[in-house]
Amino acid sequence: MLIKTPDPIKPSEITDKQLYLDRRKFIRAGAKLGLTGALLNTVSLTGALAGTKLSTVRNNEYSTDEELTPYDAVTSYNNFYEFGTHKSDPSENSGKFKPQPWSVVVDGECMKPGTYSYEDVIRPHQLEERIYRLRCVEAWSMVIPWVGIPLADVLKRFEPTSDAKYVAFTTVMRPEEMPGMRRNVLDWPYREGLRIDEAMHPLTLLTVGLYGEVLPNQNGAPIRLVVPWKYGFKSIKSIVRIQFRRKMPRTSWNMSAPQEYGFYSNVNPEVDHPRWSQRKERRIGEFLKRETLMFNGYADQVASLYSGMDLRKNY
Ligand code: MTE
Repeated sequence: MLIKTPDPIKPSEITDKQLYLDRRKFIRAGAKLGLTGALLNTVSLTGALAGTKLSTVRNNEYSTDEELTPYDAVTSYNNFYEFGTHKSDPSENSGKFKPQPWSVVVDGECMKPGTYSYEDVIRPHQLEERIYRLRCVEAWSMVIPWVGIPLADVLKRFEPTSDAKYVAFTTVMRPEEMPGMRRNVLDWPYREGLRIDEAMHPLTLLTVGLYGEVLPNQNGAPIRLVVPWKYGFKSIKSIVRIQFRRKMPRTSWNMSAPQEYGFYSNVNPEVDHPRWSQRKERRIGEFLKRETLMFNGYADQVASLYSGMDLRKNY
């Protein structure tokens, strides 16, 4: 991300062509069957491993009907610098990572601070599938069927006070299980933040799965954020702390290169990254570039959050 300008990505780098075509056939067939509705909830979420099926209902109101990015690409072309900076590093180096048992510390400006177990945070009956576009700041994008719970539903249980103007998130630090942390590419732990109205927006998803299954480690197991109208780096993975704050929190990419990565980081084709244009993007698996849409295509839902703000200054 920080290190170089984006490379053009050939579909052949992602997955072998026949595999890709087969996968697409499989996905279409799955979609016709109403993929997620038909899945069985085989085990409770406690101790659930990557690949365990989740029972969900698709939220059509917020889902795009664009073609899904193949599962292989979603799970092998990743950014998760704690496991290394190459796109294949997270899938290759995350085998030792233990996403269960898990707990999340909640603190700051709220009435119910504490240490919550995974099961306290994630209520299985609330899980939804949402098909979102994910646009990375490096000018590639994917369409991913996520499984999660609206973040607002979780945050409200902790009863934020009127002083909670922002929410800060922190990723776990386990250098012994995360070999990329041996290098100081970022000031660990990975940190992100949202304004409280962004965090409470119905599109913001606290995510535990994809393609109807428990999240693989490389995609941020066991709990990550997905904020579809912002560049992908705001979607912090493997969250262990949620803090309600009065002041805007510091965030990893903003600390590392403030002139390149602002706090808001809304997808915006009008505001270039200092080293490359944000006008177009390459959808993984496609040859031709597409136009990038304002707020990644979610302007109808989120533009009002920023009315009156200069988005060139608040990038
Ligand atoms: N979270 C942590 N902890 N570490 C990271 O390096 N990378 C971010 C984001 N969350 C990252 C992270 C970036 S740059 C992107 S594009 C998305 O995760 C990628 O999510 P995906 O690999 O599931 O597609």
